[in-house]
Amino acid sequence: MTGDSRDSDWSDPGASSLSLPEELLLALLDEESGYFRQVPGWNLNCAMVGAVLGELSLLGRIDSDLKSLILFDSTETGRPVLDPLLREIASETEQHDVRYWVERLAPLSESVISHALDRLVRRKILDRHSGDFYTFTKRQQRGETPPEEDPLAGEFVKARLTRIIFADEIPGPRDVIITGLVDACNVFHLMFQIDEEAEERIKFVSRMDVIGRAIAGAVTESVVAPSLRRPSLTKPIPSVSLRDLVFNRELREGRLPAGFAILAEKYGPVFELRLPFRQNLIVLAGLKANQWAHRMGRVYLRSKEYFEGVDKAYGVSRSMHSVDGADHFRFRKSLAPVYSQSTLTRRLDEVYDLARTHMASWDVGATMPVQTMLRPLLNAQSSPLLASIDTQDEIVDALEYKVRVLNVGIVKSMPRFMLKTPSMRRRAKATQRIVDRMQSTHTAKQRVGMHKDVVDAYLALHASDPQFLPESDLSLPLGAILMTAMYMGDQVGFALYWLVKNPELYERVTAEADALWANGDPGEDDLSPDRMDVTRRVLMETLRMSPITVMSMRTVMNTCVVEGYELPVGAQLLIAQSATHYMEEAFPDPWTFDIDRYAPPRKEHLGGGYAPFGLGTHSCLGRRWAHMHMAINLLMLTHHFKIELARPFKRMPMDPMPSQSPSNKIKFRLVEQRHELRA
Ligand code: HEM
Repeated sequence: MTGDSRDSDWSDPGASSLSLPEELLLALLDEESGYFRQVPGWNLNCAMVGAVLGELSLLGRIDSDLKSLILFDSTETGRPVLDPLLREIASETEQHDVRYWVERLAPLSESVISHALDRLVRRKILDRHSGDFYTFTKRQQRGETPPEEDPLAGEFVKARLTRIIFADEIPGPRDVIITGLVDACNVFHLMFQIDEEAEERIKFVSRMDVIGRAIAGAVTESVVAPSLRRPSLTKPIPSVSLRDLVFNRELREGRLPAGFAILAEKYGPVFELRLPFRQNLIVLAGLKANQWAHRMGRVYLRSKEYFEGVDKAYGVSRSMHSVDGADHFRFRKSLAPVYSQSTLTRRLDEVYDLARTHMASWDVGATMPVQTMLRPLLNAQSSPLLASIDTQDEIVDALEYKVRVLNVGIVKSMPRFMLKTPSMRRRAKATQRIVDRMQSTHTAKQRVGMHKDVVDAYLALHASDPQFLPESDLSLPLGAILMTAMYMGDQVGFALYWLVKNPELYERVTAEADALWANGDPGEDDLSPDRMDVTRRVLMETLRMSPITVMSMRTVMNTCVVEGYELPVGAQLLIAQSATHYMEEAFPDPWTFDIDRYAPPRKEHLGGGYAPFGLGTHSCLGRRWAHMHMAINLLMLTHHFKIELARPFKRMPMDPMPSQSPSNKIKFRLVEQRHELRA
């Protein structure tokens, strides 16, 4: 999912300056971590509404004394960040105080944040990183302001606050309001060293202007003790009946995205699953729910509890998957380069050689179950590329252990003792042997002149800060490298299945492959989007119809409201991000394998419903690597072999847990070898 650009730039005279909600967001951004300073959800919502009210008062639309908020002018401003709230105020006949409005409008604050962030990115003030982390752009850090913009827009709000608080500069009306709001969010002490004198100055500045005082006061009161009872504003979450679970054919047959889409159609975007022997799960499904999880999940949700079973099984205290906030961004920043697509495409010769060497071990005429055929093919490449070792001798055991860990620790479909059976103990040792192999082949001396791989990146992070990533926490991330072979192998298996079922597409992919390999192995520039257009779109459609990761689990850490439903602190969430893949509103005629959905003018994947690589801060760091690597494998398979299904199926058989895999009942036959397999 990408952040969509919803609002056009303002057409009014204030268009070049930043609005108060935007300034407030900039004040809350921690440049170091790429995260917004942790302000509890309700407090942030109230402060954002306060910022909108402040901006509306500066634009002369509303005024307030300390008792009531008065609407002067209901004419819309043309700013999507302000107008929905102005409309709401205009629709009310009775007069209320500012506090009432802060609390009443708080549920709308998420769209305010969303619009404000979009605009800060468009204005090149913030850079949006994968996973929706934000940092100031280089241009902004250098303090450059394009000539068409108000110079104030380019000035960090933090710099202004510094001068006002520590150099007694006289604040303007905007500064008074911002000072009050940042104070209400309780983050001044996170931004500056605040002594008694500074504290007094902040209080003094916040009280300098009547409207600023009214807004900051209302926000502070609402934060401390909301007067509107929030639950009364929300709807009860419906529970899915046992009947609807049991008779849901898609869920029963393991087609989880379609199964969740059916439930969402009946129960709406938020519903509860009551399952025996485990805490109830609240499911989020649908376009709006995805958008919320993508943008707002960072503020309200965390992954610690969901992943701690896996951390425990590998004996680590935490991992990139289970941390959130600044530490998580640090993990991603350190590791992003080694997971990038260019790291893969710089090593294409190795990719081709490793793939061909493995394919050469296949017998023409043989029949192979899908997982058995494709997981080792991908592992033959990804272990050397990501970890510079061969793991083919141990991979089956290591993957079986990891699958069991996920079933016990995350899906919770098996009791804990199932990890301690004799066969599982043996398989756990296989994983440990691989991790030892990775470490013993990555001493500084051995790595001179080698491509930096994922193991190097983890070991470097450990060496640079052993407190942040202790040696005792290395086994999980190193072991997890192997999972990529399973994910990509299964996903290529799904793609091959769809190709064989659609002979016309099979021929078009083969034609692309033959053209790319017509003059020897294609180089980085040859693998351009237009020369592998059909292959890319076949993969995209496969990831829609048969995504291997269907959902993400999270715990609610701050009470929040999604689509009118309150999610209480501690609730376990199942974000069924791929349910939209089977919803008409996102993908018309969703049961048809149709690669033209991704071509102009349709481009259905840009509508916010396409989420095969997850949503929000933990979304797949290797998505571009994975896409390119899978496309290359699909091309090579069709270039070298004519492949058929050993027997047809009416509906594709699936293994739904812990990730969605094509069942090994699906077998492919290598009918003919089309091109030589020289290594
Ligand atoms: C078919 C291929 C793949 C799919 C569908 C996929 C999907 C996903 C999804 C859905 C997540 C998010 C999980 C969550 O939110 O809890 C994720 C995380 C991740 N993926 Fe992938 N992935 C694939 C392949 C890869 C590959 C090949 C790499 C590495 C080269 C990779 C690296 C990662 C990493 C490092 C994370 C953790 C990100 C974080 O926690 O911040 N993935 N992946």
